[in-house]
Amino acid sequence: MSHQHHDKPAVGHEKVEVNVGLLAVLILLVVSVGGIVQIVPLFFMQDTTEPVDGLTPYTALQLEGRDIYIREGCNNCHSQMIRPFRAETERYGRYSVAGEFVWEHPFLWGSKRTGPDLARVGGRYSDEWHRIHLINPRDVVPESNMPGYPWLEHRELTGRYTERKLRTFQRLGVPYTEEDIAGAREAVMGKTEMEALIAYLQVLGTVIPLR
Ligand code: HEC
Repeated sequence: MSHQHHDKPAVGHEKVEVNVGLLAVLILLVVSVGGIVQIVPLFFMQDTTEPVDGLTPYTALQLEGRDIYIREGCNNCHSQMIRPFRAETERYGRYSVAGEFVWEHPFLWGSKRTGPDLARVGGRYSDEWHRIHLINPRDVVPESNMPGYPWLEHRELTGRYTERKLRTFQRLGVPYTEEDIAGAREAVMGKTEMEALIAYLQVLGTVIPLR
């Protein structure tokens, strides 16, 4: 109907504006090209695909600690990625870089920060501080609303699946040696879940110096 009001047939840009189908196709084209140009190079850049100097895979105990971190949902309140902004680097230390995470499966970056970012919490507190804090956070931070995890002290690891976990990570490209895998069960057997979780927390972000 509107066509009848036109004196001249649509030309140039107007042709796109009056044709929704054509408009949609062209938008898709522009967005795809933009996306490809931004994303594809990341798969080939050394900065994003190669581990940073000195990165080592998690030990068997740290890896078990990471699984406890996921099981207990710590990542629901804590992110593990420091963004390159002054306010973040002042508070948490050097911003995170992709090469620190090449062996993370899955990533625990997150964006929900009920508590502080933990990407560089390793070495910031003593093991004993973590132990007290994890049993009852209010014993060290009176205003804390973080829940306590007292059972971690009393639960021992059997190591039943540890070898298989390392093997799986090896298949995903994490450079575990046969020796690492063979010794995995023994390395964690009898340790408490608390010890494993603290071992994990203490290594977070320590490959790159804090500031
Ligand atoms: C309901 C949200 C919530 C959950 C779940 C949670 N935390 Fe927290 N966490 C906080 C808050 C809030 C703080 C800041 C107050 C404090 O230090 O207790 C905090 C602080 C911390 C700190 C000190 C960080 C720093 O730089 O001072 C560590 C370490 C920590 N949490 C580890 C954990 C671990 C490990 C778990 C899982 C077992 C966990 N949190 C689960 C909310 C949470």
